[in-house]
Amino acid sequence: MAFLIVASARANLFAAEARALKPELDVRIAPELGCGADIDYALVWNPPHGLLRTLPNLKLIVSVGAGVDGILSDPGLPDVPIARYVDPDLTQRMVEYVVLHVLYHHRRMSEFRELQGLRRWEYLAEPAAHEVRVGIMGLGVLGAAASKLLGALGYQVRGWSRSPKRLEGMACFAGTAELEAFLAATDILVVLLPLTPETRGIINRRLLRGLARQGRAGLLPGPVLINAGRGGLQVDADIVAALAATELYAASLDVFETEPLPQASPLWSHPRVVITPHNAAESVPAAIVRYALEQVRKHARGEPVANLIDRQKGY
Ligand SMILES: NC(=O)c1ccc[n+]([C@@H]2O[C@H](COP(=O)([O-])OP(=O)(O)OC[C@H]3O[C@@H](n4cnc5c(N)ncnc54)[C@H](OP(=O)(O)O)[C@@H]3O)[C@@H](O)[C@H]2O)c1
Repeated sequence: MAFLIVASARANLFAAEARALKPELDVRIAPELGCGADIDYALVWNPPHGLLRTLPNLKLIVSVGAGVDGILSDPGLPDVPIARYVDPDLTQRMVEYVVLHVLYHHRRMSEFRELQGLRRWEYLAEPAAHEVRVGIMGLGVLGAAASKLLGALGYQVRGWSRSPKRLEGMACFAGTAELEAFLAATDILVVLLPLTPETRGIINRRLLRGLARQGRAGLLPGPVLINAGRGGLQVDADIVAALAATELYAASLDVFETEPLPQASPLWSHPRVVITPHNAAESVPAAIVRYALEQVRKHARGEPVANLIDRQKGY
């Protein structure tokens, strides 16, 4: 039995962890496959298209990330189960990112930073947390966890998902039919959706125009976008245009259509845009490998593997 690692940037780190945890395991690093027929399991991040198809005995794919769009985009993907990475540490990091940026915009930090640059001591009105409506697109592992802490901080939290949900202390909306109502009472929009054919480009000018204007009772200067899902969910040019037209007031963006974000992007220099390099919830190699080997162990024993994705839904 061989375990293949396909993850260009951190493959050696993953391999070292796997060998340390299970010295008897035959660990291989793509593109040095050796005999492809030996490989039963693969731990992958954005595998080159067609590579996994060359492994005739592949039984299970484990994704390095929580999102599997980089795997499902392979047109030659073999028909084997795919487990995505779900981990309390990753969830905690994402919750931290979301709370940090909701607070940052609610407390008007980008404006205070600008005023600081001008050495100006100026007071800005700030609503109380309970007067701010935070809408979360995607109520899965990450969205649900973020909603809990935001609720505990006092925000009015609402959420939108594909299928109807009931989550304590928040209004839940589902499907295209309820998207408009969800957006209309959202001051700060948090995007934690997976990238699928249905969600690609969903954060566009039309959607941004549907957000609440000027916060509840005019307490916030305008709507805010926080995207920590995937870059393909958003249309970067529409965000730039919406900011220029003040249809969008501010944004925190961890993901972009093209990564790294091109030098020429006007988003880099916008005073009310915070840019992070797709590290909202960086996963830890040791934890990923431990998780992957646990799924391999379960699969080899015929036990149910955790967090298998639904290929029809695309996440
Ligand atoms: N930036 C980073 O560092 C980073 C790190 C980790 C993850 N991520 C991203 O975060 C995403 C979410 O992760 P997760 O673990 O929370 O995923 P998850 O548990 O699979 O949850 C996905 C949520 O999105 C909803 N959804 C999917 N398609 C939809 C649609 N067409 N319309 C409305 N709602 C839809 C789902 O609805 P249902 O509940 O009805 O199924 C679910 O609530 C990942 O896919 C990944 O892209 C980013």
